[in-house]
Amino acid sequence: MERINKVALIGAGFVGSSYAFALMNQNIVDELVIIDLNENKAMGDAMDLNHGQAFAPRPTKISYGTYADCQDADIVCITAGANQKPGETRLDLVSKNIKIFKGIVDDVMGSGFDGIFLIATNPVDILTHAVWKFSGLPKERVIGSGTTLDSSRLRYMLGDYFGVAPHDVQAHMIGEHGDTELPVWSQATIGGVPLAAMMNTDSKYKIEDLDEIYVNVRDAAYHVIEKKGATYYGIAMSLVRVTQAILGDEKAILPVTAHLNGEYGEKDVYIGVPTIVGRGGAQQVLELPLNEKEKEQFQHSAGVLRSIVETAFQ
Ligand code: LAC
Repeated sequence: MERINKVALIGAGFVGSSYAFALMNQNIVDELVIIDLNENKAMGDAMDLNHGQAFAPRPTKISYGTYADCQDADIVCITAGANQKPGETRLDLVSKNIKIFKGIVDDVMGSGFDGIFLIATNPVDILTHAVWKFSGLPKERVIGSGTTLDSSRLRYMLGDYFGVAPHDVQAHMIGEHGDTELPVWSQATIGGVPLAAMMNTDSKYKIEDLDEIYVNVRDAAYHVIEKKGATYYGIAMSLVRVTQAILGDEKAILPVTAHLNGEYGEKDVYIGVPTIVGRGGAQQVLELPLNEKEKEQFQHSAGVLRSIVETAFQ
């Protein structure tokens, strides 16, 4: 019998609902179960999505469920938890979301779940580490959205700047999904043309413009939250891309939150780095050749995350 690709979504808030909507429209899964403390919201989302099934690429089995439905899921995606309020940093959410996650992970693992966790809730790097610690699953089967969204923002803004499709911009944001993330300018290319060479093709391109693009990427969530109260479409698209890579065993290279065990000179930290993603989860971390400035920035970012992890679970 053909394998059924099943995702259990925990959290039917803005991010979870957008993720569910995108999964259905992009024809990514065979089955989606929506779980939320607010059962009516989960039921309502399932009903609302099913009412559009006739116009989806193909039927997806979408239902409201409970933690017991995680048992045979390939992926459990967690979007539940408190989110940033205007002016709040992602790291401000640590203690309240770790408490919420302990309960969630215990309930998921109690179902007999033996698949891959995909975490989106912030601070995603810390909470991915927490899920690994609470679940006892192998580190490669606990993945966070990492800097996939940040890298998509960078590719969009560079594409807009150079007048090319974001799909043809190869550029990574790495590090914390947060204020200490960094762009790897030294390895960025525009359609294969190194960024430095591209900057020299026209006098209108100024190096200070890159600094502005970096700041706009790093602070993008704050700007969106100020305007509409939350971000959800960009992160949902990023989560769908990671889900697609896992279920399709794509071996796609995505900057997810992965566990470092010596790569980039760092150990025992979950952080956003280019990773080969397939059916086994975060199968291999790729080490970009960072220049000295990028190495320093990355070490700082890893240090910030490690210092929080060292006290967060006490
Ligand atoms: C953002 C949230 C997902 O960056 O942290 O939009």
